[in-house]
Amino acid sequence: MESYKILLKRNKQWAGKMLETDPEFFTGLSQTQKPEFLWIGCSDSRVPANEVTGTRPGEIFVHRNIANIVLHTDVNLFSVLEYAVTHLKVKHVIVCGHYGCGGVKAAMGNQNFDQVLNMWLRVIKDVYRQNKDELEAITDLNDRANRLVELNVKDQVEKLCKTSVIQKAWKEGNIPCIHGWVYGLHDGKLKEIISIKPKKNVIDPVYVYEDI
Ligand code: CO
Repeated sequence: MESYKILLKRNKQWAGKMLETDPEFFTGLSQTQKPEFLWIGCSDSRVPANEVTGTRPGEIFVHRNIANIVLHTDVNLFSVLEYAVTHLKVKHVIVCGHYGCGGVKAAMGNQNFDQVLNMWLRVIKDVYRQNKDELEAITDLNDRANRLVELNVKDQVEKLCKTSVIQKAWKEGNIPCIHGWVYGLHDGKLKEIISIKPKKNVIDPVYVYEDI
């Protein structure tokens, strides 16, 4: 059987199994969604949001891109963020990186990934430069890359706090909390790196929008 057909076959089995345990499962979910979480993760196939958090369809709103980057000109990410925060009113936004991230490793080196990937990974080079002293004190290159994974997650969390979407939500509803996690491919565990609750003075004044 061709590989893609196996997926369709497995889907039939999965849908049947879900109905066996809860005959109303799909009827309920087809009406509406009320997820409590927005997940911004890496596209890496080994870090699926639902599986690693033990959640079911309907529980997490998901955006994924290479190396879980929050880029302020990314219309795709920002439409997901705005919908999740402003309309679905998620209580938590989670930026989740992972140790051994190929995107982060690539950004740490000097290989030319003509050209779109160079553009995409550029922001991680900025995180590297800003933390150069700490990173270059780590001699093992894998350990150094893994520390950059953590610093990258922290940087993306801080970037989320600077957005007008989050500033407005914090002011109006005192949600969401923003979390930075890193997933271990080697042990399947999530590590908490940073957690920011809605409050004033989190960001530099230059990023604060008035009359929001
Ligand atoms: Co990755």
